[in-house]
Amino acid sequence: MSLKREMRMLKRLMGIGAKDDKQVQKTYEEHEYLDAYSRHTDMRVEEDPHEAVGGMWEEIGQLQFDFLVNEGLQSHHTMLDLGCGTLRGGRHFIGHLNPGNYHGMDISPKALEFARLLVEVEGLTDKSPHLVLSEDQNLQFNEFADQTFDFILAQSVFTHLKPEHIEECFAHIGRIMHEGSAFYFTFFQGDKHEQTSVKDFRYEPSFFEELAAKYNFDFEDCSERYVHPRSQVMVKVKKKK
Ligand SMILES: C[S@@+](CC[C@H](N)C(=O)[O-])C[C@H]1O[C@@H](n2cnc3c(N)ncnc32)[C@H](O)[C@@H]1O
Repeated sequence: MSLKREMRMLKRLMGIGAKDDKQVQKTYEEHEYLDAYSRHTDMRVEEDPHEAVGGMWEEIGQLQFDFLVNEGLQSHHTMLDLGCGTLRGGRHFIGHLNPGNYHGMDISPKALEFARLLVEVEGLTDKSPHLVLSEDQNLQFNEFADQTFDFILAQSVFTHLKPEHIEECFAHIGRIMHEGSAFYFTFFQGDKHEQTSVKDFRYEPSFFEELAAKYNFDFEDCSERYVHPRSQVMVKVKKKK
């Protein structure tokens, strides 16, 4: 048994997890979903900033970076890392892009606090990344008035969002895209839409295909070029010509 699994089992036996579980449940009962999810992420960042964004820090950080570079991400491009978390992927993108070209947005103040520290510790301050807290917690992108991005990535974000949040994203993201912009996102595929835990969701691909058609985007499943260790699906959408 791995050390991590052993620790988890010990915590459970000592009732530590049980108390945490109750607190998490209460958070979701007492707050609107995105507010609760942001509070939950804050709690998790305080516990472990790498696990808070799903773990596999090195592997999934490198995976998303290599993928976007293969898709054409060059240093002069601008990028929005939507739901950047604690910069699992962001630290690679910031190093690669020209100063000022990386933008990370998140709803978790604690994740961004850690991200800012990480930028300092990893000697990336000169790259001047923009790390933005989404105060209104919606996906209308009012934070980026009159700005467009060449690449937008939402890695492991729709895996935690409800259909109405995802639709809001599709309805507004066109405003921060130009004709050549590409928006990439991942999701967990299921036979039907399903909530599998307080903050985990599965979707049928047709849900995204229909949203893409409704909001005038071309839809491409890129999963063959992106092999995720937990089998997340990767999609690319672009504005229809
Ligand atoms: C599982 S983490 C992934 C973080 C990062 N993309 C990565 O791959 O490491 C999901 C992140 O999305 C953020 N998030 C969820 N909904 C969001 C929203 N509506 N706007 C901005 N960030 C959001 C969460 O706070 C969390 O930090």
